[in-house]
Amino acid sequence: MTEYQTLIYRKDGPIGWVTLNRPDALNAYNLTMRDELYEVVGALRDDPDVRGAVLSGAGERAFCAGADLTEFGTAPSQAIARQVRWERDVWGLFLSLEKPLVAALHGYVFGSGLEMALLCDFRIAAEDAVFSLPETSLGLIPAAGATQTLPRTIGPAAALDVLLIGRRVGATEAHDMGLVNSVVSRARLLTEAQDVMETVLDSGQAALQAAKVAVNRGMDMPIGEALAMETRLAASLAHGVRGVVPAWSPYA
Ligand code: COA
Repeated sequence: MTEYQTLIYRKDGPIGWVTLNRPDALNAYNLTMRDELYEVVGALRDDPDVRGAVLSGAGERAFCAGADLTEFGTAPSQAIARQVRWERDVWGLFLSLEKPLVAALHGYVFGSGLEMALLCDFRIAAEDAVFSLPETSLGLIPAAGATQTLPRTIGPAAALDVLLIGRRVGATEAHDMGLVNSVVSRARLLTEAQDVMETVLDSGQAALQAAKVAVNRGMDMPIGEALAMETRLAASLAHGVRGVVPAWSPYA
């Protein structure tokens, strides 16, 4: 187990467990968490022993209450802040991961907390989970991908409803709109996440990688190109060609 300032990272067999760990601030996403997530997600990607990861939040009240509001407007230089965001593109790193990611969500799942969850492949909610994108009410828009990942997940009309109104969506409604895959009791959340991950990992790694790439990359392609990509990926798997899958990654 490795304890960072804002995260706990633990390996258990083939699963990496990443816990956002600022419970006193409802696990708000700050610059230190960004840098530490960048390091940990990079380690997940590069560690051959880790085949998938579960992301969760410490404490009773929140997965993550969004970006740390106390850091808003504190960057000494906008140019340097932009440069660092570019160099440590933690959201791009999430998207580039070809290993499955499960988000185990409880309590407040706000702003970048929800955006982080949208970059995962499975979202499991505890009954007490509440989702919101409050950015527009702060005169901002989401900047960790939600303007793109949310409509891809729940469709543009429902996404605009959540984005423009900034209202709070409970776990049951989130499930009805397809934002989360399942809703379980708070007590069962991490066990359910582990069960889902173990079921997924029953499949071979190359097939999981290819399926992720085909879905995520295919969403951005015209259907004809996407089908051709699927054919190539399927053929490469059938022939056991190594190295073909990463070549299709948007971040390869
Ligand atoms: N950034 C920094 N600190 C945060 C935070 C955030 N996004 N969200 C919560 N906190 C801190 C609070 O300042 C408080 O700290 P304190 O105990 O030192 O005063 C602690 O977490 C608990 O939050 P609190 O507001 O007292 O809990 P609550 O139950 O009354 O309300 C929320 C919970 C989530 C509704 C409320 O904290 C909130 O609206 N947070 C901001 C959400 C947001 O706008 N996120 C940014 C999106 S861009």
